[in-house]
Amino acid sequence: MRERILVTGGAGYIGSNIAAALSNRPGTDVLVVDDFSSGDWRNLIHVDCEVRACDCADPALLEEIAAGAFAAVFHEAAITDTTIMDQRRMVEVNTNAFASILKASCTSGTRVIYASSAGTYGNSPAPNRVGHGEEPENIYGFSKLAMDRVAARWYERHPAVLIGLRYFNVYGPGETHKNEKDGNKTASMILQLYEQRKAGKPPRLFKYGEQKRDFVYIRDVVNANLAALNAPRSGVCNVGSGRARTFNDIVDILSDNLNNRMETIYFDNPHSFYQEHTEADLTDSNIILGWQPEWSLEDGMKEYITLLEQGHRGPLEIY
Ligand SMILES: NC(=O)c1ccc[n+]([C@@H]2O[C@H](COP(=O)([O-])OP(=O)(O)OC[C@H]3O[C@@H](n4cnc5c(N)ncnc54)[C@H](O)[C@@H]3O)[C@@H](O)[C@H]2O)c1
Repeated sequence: MRERILVTGGAGYIGSNIAAALSNRPGTDVLVVDDFSSGDWRNLIHVDCEVRACDCADPALLEEIAAGAFAAVFHEAAITDTTIMDQRRMVEVNTNAFASILKASCTSGTRVIYASSAGTYGNSPAPNRVGHGEEPENIYGFSKLAMDRVAARWYERHPAVLIGLRYFNVYGPGETHKNEKDGNKTASMILQLYEQRKAGKPPRLFKYGEQKRDFVYIRDVVNANLAALNAPRSGVCNVGSGRARTFNDIVDILSDNLNNRMETIYFDNPHSFYQEHTEADLTDSNIILGWQPEWSLEDGMKEYITLLEQGHRGPLEIY
């Protein structure tokens, strides 16, 4: 019997990597659903899957979920631009749609694995631990925390396992489209600094580049999603490397890999809100998912930069 798995937001960065990994899995058929609001068709060129352009809460799709058409749902669709301030739109797209998916999945008993975010922690002191310091600083982070709360209300009465994954700063192949939008560039700092360097420009960082982030490589993120397929109970899990690194570290690793060093230009941070330090506590992730990250920033950036130098775009093809 073949298994059909739904990936919402599958034309986006993380969704296309999950779809690529699932499509390599024996006996698995993948349906990607995307409204193409921020995703890109080019991410799916080499992914063997069915594609449907529609909203992730499209009534016909919800009926299919309720009828048990899918062995599991990976829900990645969301407004992902954290600078969008339209509160109603953010909650409608991110939270309401997810609530509809959970309701439909309850009817059929379908497992749902969904993307939450480290944005739920706002500027709370690191290490960031599920159930502690959840004080989002923007409507995006709030919409993700609201998703976790909706899911928690279903835990007792939902026949299947529900897993929320709080991604930290994800980087790696498949995010190029995020830097090609007009105006706001939303790709990882790793890609942004790489592109600046390739344009012959010196690295530019907020003063003095010592802000720390938990950067997690896309392979680890996909592996956490796949591990969630076997998680024995519902819950929310952090998905990070478990180690905070500075923006100066990224510039150094980039310089080492490109064999070219340029003086960093430091400038004043114009944002009133800015996370100074994020770092995932992985205790619950180890227990619930039986997963832990395997890629150091040095190793992840090395593979990523090698692929960028070869002109690769789109998700990783080999998982
Ligand atoms: N990239 C990160 O570092 C990061 C960190 C934390 C959380 N996340 C979460 O991970 C998920 C995937 O993010 P990403 O980085 O791949 O971003 P992305 O923008 O590349 O992917 C999101 C995808 O969802 C699609 N989409 C948006 N609204 C939709 C709707 N209503 N119906 C159907 N499709 C819709 C977009 O077109 C896009 O393809 C999101 O839920 C995001 O909030 C990402």
